[in-house]
Amino acid sequence: MPDLFSPTKLGRLELANRVVMAPMTRSRATNDGTPTDAMADYYRQRASAGLIVTEGIYPSEDGKGYCRTPGLVSAEHVAGWKKVTDAVHEAGGKIVAQIMHCGRVGHLDNKQPGTELVSPSGIRARGDMFTDTAGMQPISETRALARDEIPGVIAEFARATELAYDAGFDGVEAHGASGYLLAQFLSTGSNQRDDEYGGSVENRIRFAVETLAAMAGVDGPDRVGFRICPGNPFNDLFDDDPVETFRAFLGAVRDQGLAYCHVIRLNSIPNAPDIDNVALANEAFGGPLIANDSYDLAEAKQAVAEGMADAISFGRPYIGNPDLVERFEAGAELSRFNPKQLYSEGREGYTDYPALG
Ligand SMILES: Cc1cc2nc3c(=O)[nH]c(=O)nc-3n(C[C@H](O)[C@H](O)[C@H](O)COP(=O)(O)O)c2cc1C
Repeated sequence: MPDLFSPTKLGRLELANRVVMAPMTRSRATNDGTPTDAMADYYRQRASAGLIVTEGIYPSEDGKGYCRTPGLVSAEHVAGWKKVTDAVHEAGGKIVAQIMHCGRVGHLDNKQPGTELVSPSGIRARGDMFTDTAGMQPISETRALARDEIPGVIAEFARATELAYDAGFDGVEAHGASGYLLAQFLSTGSNQRDDEYGGSVENRIRFAVETLAAMAGVDGPDRVGFRICPGNPFNDLFDDDPVETFRAFLGAVRDQGLAYCHVIRLNSIPNAPDIDNVALANEAFGGPLIANDSYDLAEAKQAVAEGMADAISFGRPYIGNPDLVERFEAGAELSRFNPKQLYSEGREGYTDYPALG
């Protein structure tokens, strides 16, 4: 029987164990999106995970939504990330870059001058977002992408993939959950286009399918994963029929040899529909699976032993427990974290959670 602490392979990615660190935005980059030395230390401390998935990284300046989030656009970004990947590799870990284009979710104050929020249909997302300039602010207005701009946006994901490999990442993960650009194209509420990228389910999945193909085109599909959360209403996302949408999307990418599907359950998500996302992903994708959301050690072990998932990712437990794998193995208590420091500046609440002993 497979065990949470035994090695596994997700495509080309060889994991020493099946405990994955889930992607978490922590807003410790510089204002221009360059990864900092603190980020290298933070990820190095967590390198005993079988795989680290980084925080969301924007593939273009238009794709940035949140303050102090990192990019993969410039040479400075690549150099900053190289320090991170070197640190993780020296410590024996593996790390993939999560490529996250925020689309219509963002605030202009968090972005470079002259940039905008682009989206499938120019429908503004309802909600507020933190800015360093003025605290919580309504999400900014957005503009619909013209048909002839779409190939350029897909190319941004491929370019970021190329830069991720230049920076030494073991792979990349496309963020298709949480109401960002890929999810905006997939969902009926945010995608009301009348060209071949909107309308029918075949059209709504096209952007995400083509994006994954473009990322796979850089150096093969087996270093490319993707993240989904069917039915998640986060960031004002709505779809008439998430099961139909994701069954079609997963069916379209199932035989492409992609590294993995990272599926989020709906356990900790308020106002979510009753959909078994792990079962849906197993059935419709069929390839390697990382499952996430509110797993504890016992449930994670059981899910792996029963073959429901190849690996389990942990988000919040990794904030205060850099040595989560060792603590799980020792049956040790887990530390809590200070929620006020999740997105604050500096090292406090970031690199100062100690390992056991
Ligand atoms: C502080 C914080 C930041 C997050 N940022 C991201 C992100 O950048 N990309 C992403 O896909 N998910 C993000 N998430 C969601 C987590 O990856 C994960 O799905 C969620 O925390 C549930 O897993 P858990 O119960 O193990 O914490 C974030 C979660 C937290 C708590």
